[in-house]
Formats: sequence, C-alpha cells, structure tokens
Amino acid sequence: MGESLVDRSVAATDGPGQRLRIPPGPAGAVDLMTVRRDPLAFLTRMRAEYGDVSSHVIDERVYLVNRPDLAHRVLAANRRNYVKAGTPDDQMLTPLLGRGLLTSDGEVWKRQRRISQPPFAPERVIGFDGLITTATDELLAGWTAAAAGDQPLRLDHQLSGLTLAIVARAIFGSDLTGINERFGEAVDVLNRFMGHYDPMEDSASGQEARASFGKAVGFLNGLVGLLVQARRLEGTEGRDDLLSRLIEGMADDAGPAGQRDLRDQVVTMLMAGHETTAKALTWTLVLLDRHPEWARRLDDELTTVLGDRVAAAGDLAQLPLCRRVIQESLRLYPPVWLLSRRSVRDDELGEFHVPAGTLVCVSPYILHRDERFWDDPARFDPDRFTDRRSAARPDYAYLPFSGGPRQCIGRHFAMLEAQLVLATIRRHVRLALVEGHPIEPEALVTLRPREGVLATVATRDG
Ligand code: HEM
Repeated sequence: MGESLVDRSVAATDGPGQRLRIPPGPAGAVDLMTVRRDPLAFLTRMRAEYGDVSSHVIDERVYLVNRPDLAHRVLAANRRNYVKAGTPDDQMLTPLLGRGLLTSDGEVWKRQRRISQPPFAPERVIGFDGLITTATDELLAGWTAAAAGDQPLRLDHQLSGLTLAIVARAIFGSDLTGINERFGEAVDVLNRFMGHYDPMEDSASGQEARASFGKAVGFLNGLVGLLVQARRLEGTEGRDDLLSRLIEGMADDAGPAGQRDLRDQVVTMLMAGHETTAKALTWTLVLLDRHPEWARRLDDELTTVLGDRVAAAGDLAQLPLCRRVIQESLRLYPPVWLLSRRSVRDDELGEFHVPAGTLVCVSPYILHRDERFWDDPARFDPDRFTDRRSAARPDYAYLPFSGGPRQCIGRHFAMLEAQLVLATIRRHVRLALVEGHPIEPEALVTLRPREGVLATVATRDG
C-alpha cells in the first residue's frame, strides 16, 4: 500500500460533550492508485490492521464493514438508510444500465423488483435447464473440433460467450443467430469500458474508449429496441421467456418512459446475468484443475448419477458435490467482491458513528476469508457447504449473492446454470490449464483472472 497504516481511531466531536467515534484507519489520505493496483490486498490489510469496521480517506471517508451482523444491518435490517445512488458502482453502471433493477432505489426499485421477481422463482427457472445444456453442448462441439489442432482456448472468454448466449436466450426466448458475434463484441466493449472506468480519465485513449463505449451502447439500444418491438407485435401470450414476462408486468406503462424502463431492465439482465456467472465457472474450473482429488470425486458423482444422460434440473438434488464445488468457488473468488452503499441519515455501526452521506462498503471477499467463520480459509474444501457445517455459520458470513431484499434476483438461475454447465463440461471433455500461465485475481467490476485462463481440451474418451 505504500504509506504506513497507523492505527488511529479518530474521535470527532459533534456538539458539546458528544463524542462520535469514527472507525480506525490509516493516517492521511490513501493513494488511489495503490488501492486500484491491488484492491484485495488493500482490503485484506485494512481488515488485519483495523478490524471489523475501518475507514480510510480517498477523496472522501469510506467505511469498510467486516462483520456479518453489521453487514446485515447495512444490507437488510437498516437497508432503507443505505442506498445505491451516489456510490461509485452507481456512477459506473448508470451510463449503461440507466435506472434498471441493479441501479434503482426506493419506490422505483420496489416496483421493478415486484414485476421482475416471478420468473426468477426457483420453480420457474428450472424450466431453462434444456436451454442451458443445449447451449453448452454447442460450445463443446466447437471445442472438440478445436481440440484436434491442440490450440489452447481462452477459457474465460469462451465461458463469457456461453453465459451471454444463455441469458440472451432466456430473456429473448430465441437464438440471436446472425447478430451473435456483433452482439458479443458490443458487450465485450461495454465490459472492458466498465472494468477500467475512470471518470477523470481525459487522455486520448480515454476518449477513444468513451467513443467505442458510446457506439456499443447505441448498438445494444438499437438491438434491444428491435427485439422488444418484435415481441410486442408477435404478442407475449403463451411465451415463457423473461422478456414476455417483463412486457406483461409493465403493460400499464407502454409510453416512452415505460419503453425506456423496459430497455433498462433488459440491458440490466443481460449485463448482470452473464459476466458474474462466467467468472464463477472460470474460477471453478481453475480450482478443479488445481485440486485433482476433488475433480475426481466430482467426476465419480456425475458418472454415477448421470451415466450418459444429459443433466437436467431434476438431477441436481442427487449432485450435492457439484453444488458444493460451486459454492466453495464462490466463497474463494466471489465475482462480486465489493458491495457499496451510501447512508441517507446518520446511523451507528457497532460502536461507530456513520454520518449521513457516508460511503459504506461490505466485501464478500473479506468476509469469505475470515478465520472466525472459516477454518483454514485459503484451503479449497467444498465440504464446508454440507448442511450441517453451513448451519453452524452466522448469516451474512457468506454473501456471494449479497443479502437482504436487494440480493441477487438471478441467484437461482445462476446456481442452476453453473451446476448444469459444470456437469456438462466435466462429462464430455477434459480440460488442462496451460502450465506456466499466471492466474491471479484482479478485482475490477467482477473478480477475474488478470491474464485470463488458457486451457487445452481433450474429449473424455480421447
Ligand atoms: C454467479 C453468478 C452471480 C453472482 C455472483 C451475482 C451476484 C450479485 C450480487 C452480489 C448482487 C447484489 C449487488 C448489490 O447488492 O450491490 C446481484 C444483484 C443482481 N443480480 Fe446477480 N449475480 C449472479 C448472476 C445473476 C444472473 C444470472 C442474473 C440475471 C439473469 C443476475 C441479475 C441481477 C440483478 C438484476 C441484480 C440487482 C437486484 C436488485 O438490486 O434488486 N445476477 N447479483
């Protein structure tokens, strides 16, 4: 981090006799570039040196909350006091997502959540199982063709393409054949721009990035507009895709504002619904490569339960290890590694005072590696997620999908998808990561392998 972290629990005064404790943290302002270079190391050191609630100054004072019960207060118990508006995430995402479910607050959010919730219920999302395994089979057919040439694949990119195709089909109910490639490219530009977003950046490359971003948004808006219009003309009756559900839910609002709202919702689902799942799958495959003993156990489970059958949602109850492997991967490498909120009014977190307007962050990455709740936290051990061991942990010690009313609406979809994709990949191909290629986490919008992941593919019988 460069500068020394000196324990300086600051006490401010607010009127005669009233002492308001500000959480401890480094003396003076923290250098933004040092934090940016390695945010995970920064968060880890803050937790180690200052404990459950710490604070540091970068432009403004930022609170870090590292205790499950306090995370619960921010995300659930006192959630009305902690909003998304004005957080860095909000500033970064709003130019693309508008006021969709991920970025809205208050009554607007409540209405959007009510409309969007039903198709994400567990009993509804299981109907997407065939779509998920078909898309995975198509990807694997391409891989096995490539396997003949022995060329390594960029596994992380391949998985992003897959999860994008899956969520797009779930939303639009059809393949986007013909525009798929252009669509993938536009989404790629958006992901890259958001990953490196810097509102102060005014260099030529910054301007260039902004111009490509503008073009990609224009393309996506045009495409989403057309697909929405087409669905309206075709009618939504009898269709079970997410777009039809959203159109029906928002039927009383067909004016321009409603159109804009629908666009924001659809783009939000597309963006929130693929990169996270792709990263979860990427890390899972990396961890299985590093832990062959667990990979073998998983393969045994899949062979016993599935034989040569295609996995379906109904099989998942018989595949507990498949689920735990993904849960453990989400613990070690939570794709959403930081949650941020801004306080509306004054509050207290433990013994500390939170003035109105404070930026308050909770890091799933840090909570997931806290020795108080996780024995030998760096170790990969999917059996941490047996029912018995999970029940022994406090709520909010495990937050890959956040918690409270704003937790991930797509979590059942994501878990279904991750398990079915993992099962299908492991049943059909053998992946070997390219040796010597570095794999380190990089915390951008999502937690991803900095240099990507290279892997060679062989068929199971090959
Ligand atoms: C492993 C995959 C996923 C992870 C780790 C993940 C994680 C999260 C997290 C942590 C949040 C809360 C953010 C916050 O509180 O600031 C969130 C919200 C959200 N996620 Fe996911 N997500 C995943 C998959 C999906 C999928 C598949 C979809 C949709 C198809 C989706 C759609 C959303 C939406 C719309 C929100 C905003 C919910 C609201 O504020 O009401 N996510 N996700």
